[in-house]
Order: sequence, then C-alpha cells, then structure tokens
Amino acid sequence: MAAGRAILRPMDHLALDRAAWHARRYLDQVDTRSVAAPATRDALLARFDIPLLPEGLPAAQVIDDLAAAAEGGQLGTGSARFFAWVIGGALPSAIAAEWLVSAWAQNAVIYATSPVPSVVEEVAGKWLLDLLRLPATASFAFTTGCQMAHFTGLAAARDQVLRAVGWDVATQGLAGSPPIRVLASELRHVSLDRALRYLGIGSHQLEILPVDGDGLLAPLVLEAALARGSGPTIVGLNAGDLNTAAFDPYPALIPLAHAHGAWVHVDGAFGLFARSSERFATLTDGMDLADSWATDCHKWLNVPQDCGFAAVRHPEPHRRAMTIHDSYFVGEQAARDAIDWTPEWSRRARAFGVYAALRELGRDGVTGLIERNSAQCEALVRGLAELPGVELISPPRLNQGLVRFLDPRPGATAAEHDARTERVIETINRGGEAMFGGVTWQGRRAMRVCVVNWQTDETAVARTIAAVARSLSL
Ligand SMILES: Cc1ncc(COP(=O)(O)O)c(C=O)c1O
Repeated sequence: MAAGRAILRPMDHLALDRAAWHARRYLDQVDTRSVAAPATRDALLARFDIPLLPEGLPAAQVIDDLAAAAEGGQLGTGSARFFAWVIGGALPSAIAAEWLVSAWAQNAVIYATSPVPSVVEEVAGKWLLDLLRLPATASFAFTTGCQMAHFTGLAAARDQVLRAVGWDVATQGLAGSPPIRVLASELRHVSLDRALRYLGIGSHQLEILPVDGDGLLAPLVLEAALARGSGPTIVGLNAGDLNTAAFDPYPALIPLAHAHGAWVHVDGAFGLFARSSERFATLTDGMDLADSWATDCHKWLNVPQDCGFAAVRHPEPHRRAMTIHDSYFVGEQAARDAIDWTPEWSRRARAFGVYAALRELGRDGVTGLIERNSAQCEALVRGLAELPGVELISPPRLNQGLVRFLDPRPGATAAEHDARTERVIETINRGGEAMFGGVTWQGRRAMRVCVVNWQTDETAVARTIAAVARSLSL
C-alpha cells in the first residue's frame, strides 16, 4: 500500500546531505547573489502550487525540489549589504546549532520533555544577563521574538501593578479590574501596542507622550503625564528607536516612574546589545534600573530568526503570569521548566543558537560586532550624505541613520522630494547590490540605514555607496 510504504521508508540521510549542500551553496553565493529577491510572486506560486501527490516522494528529492523552487525568492538578509529593517544575519555556529535542534526534534516545554534544552536555556539566559549587564537574579524567557518578549515582560507588569491594588489578574481576569494606564513615547515600536492588545490593554489605555527634537522622552513630559493620572501604571521606554536609535534618559526617567509606583518596561530589540560595549555607556547607563527588558537575539546577536529574549527583575510576577501545571508534568525539582516563564507550550529549543553564537563570538566578539557595525553605519551614512542630492535627515547613531534624496529640479516641492526618495530606494533595491527600507520621518520620506550583520565590512560599505551613487543617475 502506498501510505504504508511512505511511512516505512527508512531515514533518508541523503536528504540531510542535500540540505547541507544547498545551504552551503547558498551561503557561499551570498556575496554575489542579488540582495533583492528577483523571483516574482507569480513565478514562486507557479513553482510551489503544484498538485499534492497521492504518493510521497523520496526525502532527498523533496529537498532538491524545494531548493530549486525557492531560488530567487529569498532576500539577502544574510548579506553584508543588507541594511533594510533591522534583520540580522546568522553566524555559522548558530545556523549549524539550529540544524542540530531540528535533527534532535526536542520539545523544550519542560525539563521532562527534554533535559538538554532546559539546561542550555538556563546557561544561555545567565550569559545574556551578564553580557547585557542586567541583574543576575532576573528571570528570563526565550521567546519567538521581541514582540513576544514584550508580551512576557508586560504580562509580569500587568500581574504586579494590579496585585499592588488588590487585584489578582490570574484568577479574576480583566473584567471589572482597575484600569491600567500605559505611558510610552510616540517613537515606540508598535509591537508594544500589539503585545498590550494581547494582554487586554487597548489603545485607549495607551497614553502616547511626545518626544523632544532628539527623539527622547523628556523627564518633565513623563512627570507631567504620571501626575495626570493614578492607579496601576506601566511605562514603556525605548532603547534604540528604529529610525534614530534614540535611547531615553533612563537615570532620570526610571526613578520618576518608580516614585509613582509604575513598572518600567524597556524595548531594546537591538539597542539592549549596546550594553555589551563600554563605548555606548552614555546611551545605556541606568537602563538596568527598569523592571523588564525585551530584546532579540535574531537581530544583533545574528542567530537565525525566531529568537527573542525577555528579562524580568521580579521573578515572582513573571512566574505567576506564565506558569501552569498539569498532572503529566513530572521531573526534576531543581530543573528549569520553560513553561514557567514563556507564553508557549510545545516549543523549539531556540537557546541552542544563542549558546552557540555566544561561544563563537565570545564576550569580546559580541562587543566587537556592536562597535564594528556602529563604525560601519557611521561610514555608510556619512558616505551617502556626501553624494550629490543626498540630505542627512538623522545622523548615524549606534547603528541607524536616515538620509533622503532631493529632487534636483529648482523649487521642487516636499512631495517631489518624497517621490524622488521612494524612486531612488526602489532603484537601489532593484539593482540587487544593496537593500534599504523607506520610512516617513517627521513628515518626510527617508531611507533607513541599519547595520546589524556580522559580515558587513569596509568593502561592503564602499560597494554600497558606489551602488547608491549609480542609482542616483538612473
Ligand atoms: C525596536 C523594535 N522593537 C520590537 C520589534 C519587534 O521584534 P520582533 O519582530 O522580533 O517581534 C522590532 C522589530 O523590528 C523593533 O525594531
């Protein structure tokens, strides 16, 4: 019988070898491939949307077909010349560790379902707290990304601020609870809003605070906002705004929030990693006074996608917000069960990539990566700003900067400068040599420059500036 034959097929090692071969080939070509994805949606659909066969195929053939069909549909996010959004590359040890995780097929929900992910999470989490100079006693969770790290930190916050007014959200829910106020800057990443929505805290409960000319939340603004209301309050601060890498002034803001009984949550999706370098101490000092922090390992630590990290100063509300028990949970008293700290149930053993990346880079390697990317961002943004018709909108800070492209016609309007900026970004991206994203910043269209890749070097910066120069004349 066809179905029986498929199930009884032995493990096809050839499929693993073919996958390794395709992966190596792809990685070897990253520097010469188009950074853009040349394949159209129609072409990809035509290759993938084929009839599902009644009978299965040999695994190796499936992998060969998959690699062939995917060709040209990948963005060069692993390329040294990928500067769009904030998407890190992937270190070799982290990629390879992820392969092992897939081969082992472990479920990292509790220690009993697999001991080794539990132990590796325990150690990788401890290392990250140390590297990011967060309290060693903080609890932590490895999540799918920074948005779910927000969810985790804010769930702990919700538990704590409601408990402080005599409301147990775990048993009483939110119906009839005292309302929670959330104060956050207008530059917050909207993944914070989405995490709040999941927690039953709607947009009307979010008070958006204006920032100053540098994109920072001023202490006077926060103080006035705190004084305007009362009751359970959460304050969301930025550690590296997406466009200008603005870092809020923590030593002034956090004690203010605490004086009003508020919980402070920091979005450090990429910016938290700046704490690994003394060079950025003026930006990041005082951030450790907060109550919870969210970051991504799939951004600046360069592990493959699907790895965020939440740290919480107060383990009790964190555990209360996440933990659950069933009679089938058995195991080792001393062991860490991820289900006590993360929103998921069955889950990938995602800390292996982090553990591997930290071992491959070492402490100095992480610091070096942050400092190198920052210097490359400076060189790239300054180099672009020297090209004719390019205007610097936001100077390079940490690893972000903004430029725009001016319409050369005399008396060009704001809309024409915006249109020119859009056109040039499109031309650069279509060229396949480098990739950037666009954003509307203070009413003007701009090109975002973000450097978060371990492979970026001076040659990549020079090639990119040359590619942008060519695009200007097209
Ligand atoms: C500042 C900031 N916060 C949060 C997020 C959301 O992170 P993730 O996509 O890992 O959920 C991002 C994503 O780019 C970000 O840049």
